[in-house]
Amino acid sequence: MKRLVPEYIENLKIYQAGKPIEELAREKGLTRISKLASNENPLGPSPFAIKEMTQKLWDLHRYPDMHAHALKSKLCNLYSLKKENVILGNGSEGIMAYIARAFIQPGDEIVTSENTFIGFYILTRGVGANIKTVPLTDDYRYDVEKMSSAISEKTKAIYIANPNNPTGTFITKKEFDFLMESVPDHCIVILDEAYFEYAYDASDEYPNSMDYRYDNVITLRTFSKAYGLSGIRCGYGFAHKYFIENLTKVKLPFEPNALAQIGAIGALEDQPHLRRTLRKNKSFYNDLIKFLGVNDFKPIPSVTNFVTFKTGSSQASEWMFNKLLDEGVIIRWLKSNEMPDYVRVSIGTREEMSHYFEAMEKILPKYNDKFGRA
Ligand SMILES: Cc1ncc(COP(=O)(O)O)c(C=O)c1O
Repeated sequence: MKRLVPEYIENLKIYQAGKPIEELAREKGLTRISKLASNENPLGPSPFAIKEMTQKLWDLHRYPDMHAHALKSKLCNLYSLKKENVILGNGSEGIMAYIARAFIQPGDEIVTSENTFIGFYILTRGVGANIKTVPLTDDYRYDVEKMSSAISEKTKAIYIANPNNPTGTFITKKEFDFLMESVPDHCIVILDEAYFEYAYDASDEYPNSMDYRYDNVITLRTFSKAYGLSGIRCGYGFAHKYFIENLTKVKLPFEPNALAQIGAIGALEDQPHLRRTLRKNKSFYNDLIKFLGVNDFKPIPSVTNFVTFKTGSSQASEWMFNKLLDEGVIIRWLKSNEMPDYVRVSIGTREEMSHYFEAMEKILPKYNDKFGRA
């Protein structure tokens, strides 16, 4: 067929999400399934948010408030901001798409790290950007020195996932400031803090970007992770008025939708649910780290709700991923993140973690035998 789209679109790979529960149930006829593949909040949304959204169902013949007045006001109060500094979208990825549309043109260069959030590579390649990556450090962190050296005249944007997915590691304020010294004025910095709530809870060294401001930085956060609302698609960004004004020009007017706006407000109001989420996450994270250690795996220390560890080879990861699927446990094989010899496990509920531990114990004797582990 004649080429109808630009080459940079044809060359894109379609994003592979974690396997849906329904799909696995259908394929394998299983009833006990634990999905530990997409870093979702296993406790679900706040019950208060659910109640608020349920009420809103009767109003769905109305368009959403295109200025999302109530949600923006809530966020402004929470973070002492002005509305002119806030943007909302269909998840933080929705806002990344606006950033790509508003600020990036074909041929622009973007500097980021290897082994970071795939969604960002896809979105920016999709507008024709050239992505320049540098390797992670030996301890799986963003290498700010190498990133700083990679910035050139042509660099238009820098992307930092802090903490990073899929490694769960973070950069400190000192490292961020160091990098910012090399960022020219014509360059924007996308600071993706999708796991902010987890990281802020987990480490005193994790920097809260609300405490410092750079005019060329846009911070992205989301209701998809600790707030348990992945399915509703709602994310937010904070930046200088100039950014927000221009992003608003390319934004679809009625995003986020009416249920998402109400659900997000409900989630922000239910702080006990967030605290419960963080408490359980910490406890089950510790269990997971212990389990992996006992079984001679070396997990990467993470400040998030997921843990990545090395299996030793791409075949070993694939085998483990498939055998766990047979047991009804969905984890992530990090092939698309160019870490094929690693897998990632999201923290689930107590029941889901027990399922994972049982399944691992079942498959490990064969695994150890097959992949030469004593
Ligand atoms: C680092 C990072 N950024 C952004 C996202 C996307 O989040 P959202 O659901 O808000 O689009 C994810 C989702 O996994 C992520 O890991």
